[in-house]
Amino acid sequence: MARTKIILLGPPGAGKGTQAKMLAEHLSVPHVSTGDMLRQAIANKTELGLEAESYMNQGQLVPDSTVNGIVEQRLAQEDAKRGFILDGFPRTVEQAETLQGMGLGIQDVVLISLNGEIIVQRMSGRRACGTCGATYHIEHRPTQKEGVCDSCGGETSQRADDAEATVRERLRVYHDKTAPLVRFYSEAGLLREVHGDSTPETVLTNIKKELGAA
Ligand code: AP5
Ligand code: MG
Repeated sequence: MARTKIILLGPPGAGKGTQAKMLAEHLSVPHVSTGDMLRQAIANKTELGLEAESYMNQGQLVPDSTVNGIVEQRLAQEDAKRGFILDGFPRTVEQAETLQGMGLGIQDVVLISLNGEIIVQRMSGRRACGTCGATYHIEHRPTQKEGVCDSCGGETSQRADDAEATVRERLRVYHDKTAPLVRFYSEAGLLREVHGDSTPETVLTNIKKELGAA
């Protein structure tokens, strides 16, 4: 049976969200993205959204205790019992330790690697649907009609944290706070690596191979 308790790790723009969505459909498990949950909270102007917004717009991480709480609640839901694709969590060693403490039995951690200049280029062209969260790129994956989501007809726009200076800060934070997880999961014997620098379809094929889920 295919393994279904999976973490996608990697720098901003590596393609975690793009791959997580396709992989979740393939494995019939939920795609759990902390970034999407936080953006939804901002759009709904909830207390969580108000707390998260200034951190996110500056390219900083939202505090561990806040993020750990929302993930714990989400993974306790019925649809996550069979498995899940975690995208953007954990992002610090403390978050990884909290996840370990939940005793869910993570089976694979896939690192999608990509160099910094390609990242900046990808983010500046990214557009996301404000309604369903689908992600596009003005060159690599354009919508059929400019500014309109192919999936749901919602409006697509640039993310607030995709300005070049903010992307560079997010990269710095990734190297400082998240990159140590590569060692953490490598020592736990769970880490697999896939290069993010090919078409989304090729990256997906390579991830499936690593997971034995082809
Ligand atoms: P989050 O939303 O998780 O952002 P991120 O990790 O910075 O990553 P991105 O979503 O920007 O990139 P991605 O890897 O998903 O790439 P995508 O598939 O979109 O987090 C945002 C913020 O929320 C954080 O900065 C932080 O403040 C907060 N936060 C979230 N989680 C947190 C946590 N656990 N703890 C604390 N704070 C947290 O692809 C990028 C672009 O490239 C798209 O346009 C796409 O179409 C295109 N593309 C994708 N794959 C390819 C390909 N193979 N070839 C060409 N183009 C491609
Ligand atoms: Mg993402």
